[in-house]
Amino acid sequence: MRRHLAGYLLLPVLFFVHLAANATEGMWLPHLLTNLNEKEMKGMGMKIGASDIYNVNKGSLKDAIVSFGGFCTGEIISSQGLLLTNHHCGYGSIQKHSSVQRNYLDNGFWARNRAEELPNEGLFATFIVRIEDVTKQALQGVTTQMNEEQRASLIGKNLGAVRSNIKKETYQDVVIKPFFEGNQYFLFVTETYKDIRLVGAPPSSIGKFGADTDNWVWPRHTGDFSIFRIYAGKDNKPAEYSPDNVPLSPKHFLPVSLDGVAENDFTMVFGFSGRTSEYLPSEALKLTVEGQDPAKVAMRDAALKVIDGFMRKDEQIKIQYASKFAGTANAWKKWIGEMQGVRATGGIQRKLKYEERFRQLASPAQRNVLDSLNILYKQSAPFAVARDHYIELTRNVEMLNFANDAVTMLQETRVKGESHYDELREQFLAKMKSLYSNYNNDVDREVAAALLDIYFSEVPSRMIGGEGYQVWMETNKDGKATAARMYSQSAFTAYEKLAAFFAQPFNTVSEAVWKDPATRLLIGLRNGFIDNVGEPYDALQPDIARLQRAYMQAQMDVLKGRRFYPDANSTLRITYGKVNGYVPRDAVEYGISTTLDGVMEKYKPGDYEFDVPEKLRSLWEQKDYGPYGEKGKMPVCFIASNHTTGGNSGSPALDAYGNLIGLNFDRTWEGTMSDINYDASICRNIMVDIRYVLFIIDKFAGAKHLVDEMKLVHPKKKTVVPARKAA
Ligand code: ARG
Ligand code: ASP
Repeated sequence: MRRHLAGYLLLPVLFFVHLAANATEGMWLPHLLTNLNEKEMKGMGMKIGASDIYNVNKGSLKDAIVSFGGFCTGEIISSQGLLLTNHHCGYGSIQKHSSVQRNYLDNGFWARNRAEELPNEGLFATFIVRIEDVTKQALQGVTTQMNEEQRASLIGKNLGAVRSNIKKETYQDVVIKPFFEGNQYFLFVTETYKDIRLVGAPPSSIGKFGADTDNWVWPRHTGDFSIFRIYAGKDNKPAEYSPDNVPLSPKHFLPVSLDGVAENDFTMVFGFSGRTSEYLPSEALKLTVEGQDPAKVAMRDAALKVIDGFMRKDEQIKIQYASKFAGTANAWKKWIGEMQGVRATGGIQRKLKYEERFRQLASPAQRNVLDSLNILYKQSAPFAVARDHYIELTRNVEMLNFANDAVTMLQETRVKGESHYDELREQFLAKMKSLYSNYNNDVDREVAAALLDIYFSEVPSRMIGGEGYQVWMETNKDGKATAARMYSQSAFTAYEKLAAFFAQPFNTVSEAVWKDPATRLLIGLRNGFIDNVGEPYDALQPDIARLQRAYMQAQMDVLKGRRFYPDANSTLRITYGKVNGYVPRDAVEYGISTTLDGVMEKYKPGDYEFDVPEKLRSLWEQKDYGPYGEKGKMPVCFIASNHTTGGNSGSPALDAYGNLIGLNFDRTWEGTMSDINYDASICRNIMVDIRYVLFIIDKFAGAKHLVDEMKLVHPKKKTVVPARKAA
């Protein structure tokens, strides 16, 4: 009895210790900081108030932050709409303006005046005007008895009403998103500017220095930045591109600090965090790092190895595959880091412990939610893994990907009617034409040979289905033989052949696709996948969604001492932490910052990843760093414990006063599991030091007029640097 009592008393204390989740974890909603975070932020060193970060009545930090094209973040750094983001975020725009004669990717680009700034069709920048909680309206009439479909339809109706009643200007938009798995809803009034012009970019040998070898890795030496400018109509409101548009006059722009960072400095990162899943139950975490990640990594291992071999031998292939390779390698490397990080920090054990504590405090019904959810994830596991195998196969083997598009197009024609064939075929062929310009039959054949071997050995035959398996048996269950047939006989081996194939009448094509070895295999695999994997997997999802939502609510109800932040969902968030190194493995300690000396240590003349431009080498030799160096060195990158994710690329790193000190662009490899299992001991975000950005603009590129547009400050010395006149 006594022991029982003691245990009972002890429990909340233990809890409190455990639940004091590390201060640096979390991606917080900017309009809720006052209640949830302000005190802690100030305790960690912040010198401004929550109302300086988010304020609907006056200009605040949030008014300097934009979603850049919907996939990255950007920030305003001058009174004339100058926008800073990453080089890898501006990459597509820089590439579109490049040609062999004017290769801005290789050589960089610097507009010498406004007239030289380059428009980018389709690019946009979205500001957040205000955020409102619309949970009550969204969930009006929703009951636990409803199934997912009924629930979604009622919420859709409710939100329609919210949308039509909201007070906003005609040039503003409304976005409403679910948070905490659909337990809460927030509304965002936004302003989207559509005339965004390219102002400057360093050469890739600076902006992408280290490329894939250094990607996700600390120590890092990449000057990952590019500069744009937002243009507005004469009334300063959003407007379509027009030569008559004028630079935006923003509500707020970020002052730029020249004072640099020191160990333990307070930092914030403000931006559009993409997606995280921090509240999964243990079976889901296990499934991710023991089932899905290994499956995806194995498929990409094989594909990347083949492509890399070709790229190293053939200049033409290198150009054709560079961008695809980078995209495939980026997620591949992240997943490897994620598996290793969860293992290294005992992530699954930690999750189990957390669930044990939850269980101790939960009601039987709440316990039941967690148990049922874990069971469902376990049930879905074989389907989820097979599904990833299928997705990776049809993604990385381009011929299967193209065949999939073709079959989809034919199906659509059947549904819409044959009279639509010409139009649908034309769309399809236009897409194919551009994809084939970066396609090589030999590369793809070898990728297919390798990936088919993995697919047929890893996925159980009952999940592959009879039709696909039939093809596999006809070619002696051998990837090479299957590929040899496909890549010699199929209409998909070259764009011209494909165009000729589809020039035939609809009925002829519909017959012939069953005989072409590429479409035949694809149709077999696809039918087998839908019946044996896709449908059973999808059938579990509504229940998983319902229970995940109930489990989220239960965690928030049961673990009262813990502060919860909603998973990232591409909405504006603020994260904060400190400039800190970490210990990646036994006997290795990582420092907080890198310098240009480290760039020169990595320098490999002529190498496509580690070459260094002549001008930069000579600036380094002369230690000609202008006002940007520190103690005879040129700072390049630094790390801190801000909890960031994909989409935070291009986000500003801010000091305690809200001044710009860096530009977020990556995370450290050991900590990429922060998306599913944040651990303060090894999760770090990587930023370019803003002084390196200024140094490259001014000393390297000679574009000092851009620096002169900014407001440079010395917060540690509390002075503003007077603008220097351009030479
Ligand atoms: N890892 C960073 C992010 O997830 C940077 C990616 C761009 N760089 C690259 N080498 N692929 O987006
Ligand atoms: N590099 C990522 C991005 O492009 C950021 C990250 O995942 O840390 O958004």
